[in-house]
Amino acid sequence: MYNAQRILVTSALPYANGPLHIGHLTGAYLPADIYVRFQRLMGKDVVYVCGSDEHGAAITIRARQEGVSPQEIIDKYHVLFEEAFRGMNISFDIYHRTSAKIHHETSQEFFRHLEAQGEFEKQTSEQYYDPEAEQFLADRYITGTCPKCSYDKAYGDQCENCGSSLSPNELIDPKSTITDAKPILKETFHWYLPLQKYEAWLREWIEQGKLDGKELHDASLWKNHVLGQCKSWLDNGLLPRAMTRDLDWGVDVPQEIEGSDGKKLYVWMDAPIGYISATKEWAKQNDKDWKDYWQSEDSSLIHFIGKDNIVFHCLIFPAILKAHGGYVLPQNVPANQFLNLEGEKLSTSRNWAIWVNDYLKEWEGKEDELRFYLAKNMPEQKDSDFSWKGFQEANNNELVNNLANFINRVLVLTHKYYDGVVPEIDEDLDIAGPRSEDEFAFHDSEYLFLFDQLHDYSQKIRRFQFRDGLKSLLEISSYGNQLLQFNAPWKLVKEDPERTKVVMHLAIQYVTLLSVLMEPYLPQASARLRSMLALEPLKGQGELLEIGNQMAEGEHILPSGHQISASEHLFSRIDDKLIEAEVEELKAKANMQEASSQVDSSLPPIKSEIVFDDFSKIDLRTATILEAEKVPKTDKLLKLSVDMGSEQRTIVSGIAEHFDPADLPGQAVVVVANLAPRKMRGVESQGMILMAENEAGKLAFVSPSEGFAKGFVVR
Ligand code: MF3
Ligand code: ZN
Repeated sequence: MYNAQRILVTSALPYANGPLHIGHLTGAYLPADIYVRFQRLMGKDVVYVCGSDEHGAAITIRARQEGVSPQEIIDKYHVLFEEAFRGMNISFDIYHRTSAKIHHETSQEFFRHLEAQGEFEKQTSEQYYDPEAEQFLADRYITGTCPKCSYDKAYGDQCENCGSSLSPNELIDPKSTITDAKPILKETFHWYLPLQKYEAWLREWIEQGKLDGKELHDASLWKNHVLGQCKSWLDNGLLPRAMTRDLDWGVDVPQEIEGSDGKKLYVWMDAPIGYISATKEWAKQNDKDWKDYWQSEDSSLIHFIGKDNIVFHCLIFPAILKAHGGYVLPQNVPANQFLNLEGEKLSTSRNWAIWVNDYLKEWEGKEDELRFYLAKNMPEQKDSDFSWKGFQEANNNELVNNLANFINRVLVLTHKYYDGVVPEIDEDLDIAGPRSEDEFAFHDSEYLFLFDQLHDYSQKIRRFQFRDGLKSLLEISSYGNQLLQFNAPWKLVKEDPERTKVVMHLAIQYVTLLSVLMEPYLPQASARLRSMLALEPLKGQGELLEIGNQMAEGEHILPSGHQISASEHLFSRIDDKLIEAEVEELKAKANMQEASSQVDSSLPPIKSEIVFDDFSKIDLRTATILEAEKVPKTDKLLKLSVDMGSEQRTIVSGIAEHFDPADLPGQAVVVVANLAPRKMRGVESQGMILMAENEAGKLAFVSPSEGFAKGFVVR
């Protein structure tokens, strides 16, 4: 419903398979955060949910690349995401994760419900299968040549070169990314959502904001590029879409459903339901009812996402929700376009990116500055560019010279002339109006300007125009600066102290309003300013609504007689040196990445970073093999007995295909001495022998030099 009192806001659940960069931040998180902070100030009942997307091939591929389990991958990135979002002051009410039990239950319940209502069509089809790995291949596990642009590293679902979405059978020369094998087609069966059946209502809903003739939202507030993408999907005709996959990582298709064995929910079915399970978890922790937000007429649902997620949020998820029944549909999906970096596409594989966690370390205390530049430059309607120079200029010219300078002058002069007390004024005195030096103005007319700005600012944010909202905020301080410039209180104070009070009183009202309007964009600076003004911290409980009402009544928002506290500068200049260093570092990292990818692409990539403590847990010792024999009835295993100086151990090692047991006695080796013992074919193995493997899979011992194979510590 429009103007609902309850607003449920979601930001795309990021895949827990790699760190967040500033493109993600400005795409789906910063705009949502500005929006929810604003709506809380307007007294709305807002719930802002997000979490990590921990299923799908993106996760398992990453795990395979790093040589660790999917669980390790999701745990690692989940923690990094939490840090990044907390650091940037993204004010989620809950940051959840799709590996949570409540999520598995919620998404299974959805599936069960759709299945029971007969919403799915079961279909058998031929899908790519890797005969060596003996598994079906998710689209992401297949690469080949793009039929549209001939790029030779296109994925089965998308070509990252030309951006076309593909299906795996369109790829020329498909290859499994797991084994490099040529995939074969094999029959499998899945549950499909017949999207084509929903085409008519989806079209009415997208194009007119109506469902069965009833108006649900104002379609004119939807962004053109979002509508455009949806229309082109609808015009091309929707097809049934499989809601299950043959995978071993994800949410299980509910056991009791026939044929569920080995089947998982499609990640784009489970992940958006993650918004619901996150809300459930939040409701549980806060003694609320999640249904008030998902199943109530008086609730408006807004999805913040990047443009690559549009069809999922505007067509597929709404179709799932409606097929289930009883759920609200999104009021708006204000997707953003992409952010470039120094004129080039952001790229994880090229390491052409600014990682949020890195920024937080290097620019500690300058989180608002990044929020500011990203908001000012947000790719709302078209792709935009982040440049370090632009970041510096936005900081120096707008935050420091315009905003912080105005605020500082007002506070310093208030202390100087009035000992920090807001002066009493004679409202009938005229002052120089900010527009030109000969124009005169009165306190109330200039106060009205402030009210108009507040209105304009609010309107912009409600319409998801965050760049413009920020502009109208900055207009207040530019205008304020002019007010000071034209009236020159530092001179006027001697000639006409009464008029000076009018000017200063007005300027203080400007600063007070700024302290609130800044909060959605610059929460930390806003909090500092509130404390300089000796005002209550903002809690996001309708304070702006309250101020709007006061202003509409002509009431001053910081009354005469109020005592302010000591002031300090809100922002400071950023030096050329820092900026040059960042640009250089960016280039150096990309060059390094390029060099390392050229060295030898057949070598597996270096695993993710560990700290020294991780390494020091491993106890490595030198040793000498005493005896070696084959483990009966196996091809690969040798049973070795090794001398470790102080003790002798039995170790089972999978090297029988590479070495003749007769050659091994006397061989110097390195042993992992504190590995938990493991039974292999009935023999307990009490350690592991380190081996090096070349690109052809040939093995060699890692041996200490002569005289060293006596149980010495390796470190
Ligand atoms: N993980 C997806 C991505 O990063 C977004 C999922 S959004 C959700 O592109 F709706 F599915 F949660
Ligand atoms: Zn292509």
